Amino acid sequence: MHETVSGVLDTDRVRAQFPALDSPPPGGGPRVFFDAPGGTQVPESVVAAIRRYLLEDNSNTDGAYELSRRTDGLIAEARRHGGAFVGGDPDGIVFGQNMTTLNFNLVRAVGRTLRTGDEILTTALDHDANISPWLLMAQDRGLVVREVGLTPVLDVDLDDMRDKLTDRTRVVAFCLASNAVGTVTKAREIAGLAHDAGALAWADAVAYAPHRRIDVRGLGLDLLLCSPYKFFGPHLGMAWVRPDLARDLPAERVRPAAQVPPGHRFETGTLSHEAIAGFVAAVEYLASLGSGGDLASRLSAGYELIRRHEAELAGVFGTGVAGLAGLRMVGLPGDSPARVPTFGLVCERTTPRRLAEALGDAGIYTWDGNFYAKRVVETLGLDLDVGLLRIGMAHYNLRTEIDRFLDVLESLLGAE
Ligand SMILES: Cc1ncc(COP(=O)(O)O)c(C=O)c1O
Repeated sequence: MHETVSGVLDTDRVRAQFPALDSPPPGGGPRVFFDAPGGTQVPESVVAAIRRYLLEDNSNTDGAYELSRRTDGLIAEARRHGGAFVGGDPDGIVFGQNMTTLNFNLVRAVGRTLRTGDEILTTALDHDANISPWLLMAQDRGLVVREVGLTPVLDVDLDDMRDKLTDRTRVVAFCLASNAVGTVTKAREIAGLAHDAGALAWADAVAYAPHRRIDVRGLGLDLLLCSPYKFFGPHLGMAWVRPDLARDLPAERVRPAAQVPPGHRFETGTLSHEAIAGFVAAVEYLASLGSGGDLASRLSAGYELIRRHEAELAGVFGTGVAGLAGLRMVGLPGDSPARVPTFGLVCERTTPRRLAEALGDAGIYTWDGNFYAKRVVETLGLDLDVGLLRIGMAHYNLRTEIDRFLDVLESLLGAE
């Protein structure tokens, strides 16, 4: 458990598990990782699990010997961990290469059940991995894709969504959080609107999972996608599909491949077993931050500590950035409870790339551009090739790192 007496996250204990955080860059000096939305750093326990799998358990599935049975056991355990992680039935868990690839496959599967003229709603807040698959499938099947716009604070506009839902809407594809500007969407309401119209609620949780506890049942989702490499695990994708839906959708399978459990129907070929071992360890790591009886309650307690720590970081960041001339933060303020600590900054006197490079030279790792959140950047009226400077934190970041970032940024902006 990583909680101090006062109920705050013990960041010393957290950071001790992430060797990358305190390893100096080639030129010396401390590094600051503000690139979490691109992929988080990994604790030692995850690396150890991957190593152990490859050294001790490496084998294919369904063999008639003990090593292979251990791999079967690992995958079953990973589905149980996946179920606890998303708050849903483990039978609906699907592993794959990454979120994008899984979504292309799942969209194709649902597409085969749709008719010409059926409608899909996407949002302008989403990463293109939850937009392009729908646009391409719509071309193949003669579907109509409508986009729901954004409010001035860069949230999904629910009035616009209500206007665009019709009795032909079959899927509402949306994100639980924005990977560009950090908005946490009103997922329960969106799922309710989708269901009232008879449509599926299809959620991208990639930018949400590092920060907030997922609860597919509580939110009323039919399908959810995420990427363990964004929440302290290895490069891997994971989806949860409501098991009855997973059973019925026409999955693309080679003929001899097994069809159970239902989520397995969307897993093609041999999986990255070592990454799955790392995923189990990543979920255990998150649960180890909290206390409680079973895995699910430890995860909830761990995420509560993460949420509080990140809310404090976000408040400090918002106030600090507001005092800098030449930069403008878009979207919700830093202290909004409806955001994760991912910030999009418009650079008024220089380009995001130049700032990101200069920050990188100072050991501060950020990101610049459009982050594949094409419609967010276009809605802001920015050039797609220029985009925003993105600062993305995780629970392992510290207030002192924000102070350092603000000092460096102030001198860079002064020199422009
Ligand atoms: C919100 C969001 N959705 C989807 C993706 C795509 O994830 P993957 O790299 O696992 O395909 C990303 C990646 O950055 C993302 O941030």
